[in-house]
Amino acid sequence: MRDAAPTTIYLKDYAPFGYLVDEISLTFDLAPNATRVHSRIAFRPNPDATDRTFFLHGEQLSLISARIDDQPVEPEVTEKGLTCKVPDGPFTWETEVEIDPSGNTALEGLYMSNGMYCTQCEAEGFRKITYYPDRPDVMGVFSVRINGDLPVLLSNGNPVDSGEGFAEWHDPWPKPAYLFALVAGDLVAHSDRFTTVSGRDVALNLYVRPGDEGKCAFGMEALKKSMKWDEDVYGREYDLDVFNIVAVDDFNMGAMENKGLNIFNSSAVLASPETSTDANFERIEAIIAHEYFHNWTGNRITCRDWFQLCLKEGLTVFRDAQFTADMRSAAVKRIEDVIDLRARQFPEDNGPLAHPVRPESFQEINNFYTATVYEKGAEVIGILKRLVGDRAYAEALDLYFARHDGQACTIEDWLAVFEEVTGRDLSQFKRWYSDAGTPRVSVQEDWDGSTYTLTLSQQTPPTPGQPDKPPRVIPVAVGLLGPNGDELRPTEMLELTEARQSFRFDGLPSKPVPSILREFSAPVILDRDSPTSERAFLLAHDTDPFNRWEAGRSLARDTVLAMAVDGAAPNASYLDGIHAVLRDDTLDPAYRALMAGLPGQSELAGTLHERGITPDPMAIYQACEDLRQALAETCRDMLPRLHADTRVDAPYAPDAEQSGKRALAGTALALITRLDGGELAAEEYAAADNMTLQLTALAALLHAGKGETQLSQFHDQWRDDRLVMDKWFGLQVSMAKPDRAAQVAQALTQHADFNWKNPNRFRAVMGALATNHAGFHHASGAAYALLADWLIRLDPVNPQTTARMFTAFQTWRRYDADRQALIAAQLDRIAATPDLSPDSTEMIARIRG
Ligand code: PHE
Ligand code: ZN
Repeated sequence: MRDAAPTTIYLKDYAPFGYLVDEISLTFDLAPNATRVHSRIAFRPNPDATDRTFFLHGEQLSLISARIDDQPVEPEVTEKGLTCKVPDGPFTWETEVEIDPSGNTALEGLYMSNGMYCTQCEAEGFRKITYYPDRPDVMGVFSVRINGDLPVLLSNGNPVDSGEGFAEWHDPWPKPAYLFALVAGDLVAHSDRFTTVSGRDVALNLYVRPGDEGKCAFGMEALKKSMKWDEDVYGREYDLDVFNIVAVDDFNMGAMENKGLNIFNSSAVLASPETSTDANFERIEAIIAHEYFHNWTGNRITCRDWFQLCLKEGLTVFRDAQFTADMRSAAVKRIEDVIDLRARQFPEDNGPLAHPVRPESFQEINNFYTATVYEKGAEVIGILKRLVGDRAYAEALDLYFARHDGQACTIEDWLAVFEEVTGRDLSQFKRWYSDAGTPRVSVQEDWDGSTYTLTLSQQTPPTPGQPDKPPRVIPVAVGLLGPNGDELRPTEMLELTEARQSFRFDGLPSKPVPSILREFSAPVILDRDSPTSERAFLLAHDTDPFNRWEAGRSLARDTVLAMAVDGAAPNASYLDGIHAVLRDDTLDPAYRALMAGLPGQSELAGTLHERGITPDPMAIYQACEDLRQALAETCRDMLPRLHADTRVDAPYAPDAEQSGKRALAGTALALITRLDGGELAAEEYAAADNMTLQLTALAALLHAGKGETQLSQFHDQWRDDRLVMDKWFGLQVSMAKPDRAAQVAQALTQHADFNWKNPNRFRAVMGALATNHAGFHHASGAAYALLADWLIRLDPVNPQTTARMFTAFQTWRRYDADRQALIAAQLDRIAATPDLSPDSTEMIARIRG
């Protein structure tokens, strides 16, 4: 049963809860269909609150009994929770409820995955476990007893006692309910230890299903590196005797930072060379770090309310990016992050779903775990760090941890520590949190023979509910290069605070070439019509690795768009420039591979739309194909050597060096396949002894219209490995030609292994369809209809995963009237589905605008 009218919640309405929780004890009697949860909670009036309404959240619970101070009471129960008359002073509240984990397909609250009990409580899942003030500013000390006939029984904190059929846990750190976790199942542990800087001996366990033991070693190493890094770089030490991670196959997101008991989507933790690609390894290392870092940025200091989500997520993404930059290559990581930002956040920020990094209202909080909150939230911290400098950043963080440990905080608390440390007024900076939309920065140059003047202008287009955008402070890192590539001026951080502002550089010997927005110093769109020759020059000479890549990227973008829109020929400066980069052995292979990539087709469509041109997905697709073909021809002579030189002879290691080589070899193989029709790729496939090589070769073959045999061989080899089978499903859809994508996806949904209730499998097919740009936007509308069919089907089963997939439609206004009509018809069809979840209802309403 669903509520009739979704309600909107506003940040401005925040009020503290009328009661504080001192302690909460939970007892679980596990049974798949009828788990009993007994809770005993010590409440007392909150001196900082005025409203004494005693309302506890609770959904999909059967209330068995309720007591106050050992006396039975009769609370008033609704679908959303209960209210009860309570004493004036402190009191003990007890309830017994029954829940149905095996019927819980939404994967929120307590649910089952392959016979294992598992919880997910962020953001509002705890209310499906018991009656409770399920809001992050209510923090309590949890004790948990689990009764169940399973070998492994886990909860948060430290183990207290265990025996035949039970285990007891106690978490000494007060926490909000969203960080509660319980796991019970037939699991095996991969164990290790870590000694913290002050000498605390911590038992580390990675729990997996029997059979997955061989996929744990990498995750464990990543955990130990993360623990050490957070001590070294942020001075943050771990604070319990155990740190447990559990891998689960059915999970809506990547992973969850429950205190002392992180729960991971198995795709975000299990790894082996045979089954995981280099990219998987890198992502796993980052997610392990991310969840571990939450222990301080999220758990010890949490959010006052869900509007403050970026307080923990933006900061923790920023921290995990720093970690990856330290473990691997900083330049490569920065480029990867910008690619991702442009692919996922820019469309959001420039479309109907645009919202501030700190939203001011929402209907369903699950819909705000977005690229804006996470990735732009991290960019905003990068801006702050650039503005105040590294020293002040470190001091401010020390103050933040010292002052707010144990508290539920706001962005205002966060900014206050920076203001205090620097004495700087951050009110203009705060617009990065309050104002949605991606600023456009345009550039005008003047040269008078010795003084060079850069005039920067900023403008942010309106976003839903925010018509006017005052100027914000934008750090623009600029360096000036001389005619032979020397740095005339090293990188300087210009602070653009006005709508239009000039910056002078005096005493220059010759007219410089500017390198603007180095390191991508702020998440903006740089509007700059510089001549091709200048970009070719920067591609060859820029001393900032990010901007050197960016120069190649913008050349690629412009040549491919000219091909798509005007039928132009491939630009020779681009081809020659990339040719030179590919053969330059002094450059990091990973970096060279990135330089050779093309912007995503959806991103290209977005660029055309910004320029007032309606994108034609097929024309963009064809232009990308033609440009790749031209690049292959240009590099024909050097490719075999490049491929041979990047071969890794050492035993497989997922480190930056080897994976960089494999990435470049993969680039070479893809180009060679355009010339030899797949001969080398077939050899490579047959010889592959790790998943990176196997999948790269298979992708090359599929692109060449070959690979049928290999595809079925792959299926036979990996049919029992869920994670690899996700790749098998996804690859076929992403490699499908535009006119076949919907058909290929449709056929795969009929495959016996298409378990659509598993989010990973659903996303493997539907996510790949949505990101096969020309396939998804094929003029027939078949892909729109197929995705809509499946969203309608998944919605009642798993609203959260369904709602997230609506982002596939967020760019619909970019396209021609026919496509818009086709998409609108599908959105209307979904919206008309009886009992559609509030999650999906909100997404459609926002996208329709
Ligand atoms: N808090 C998790 C993270 O960022 C993400 C998450 C949100 C997981 C909601 C599950 C549900 O690490
Ligand atoms: Zn997070």
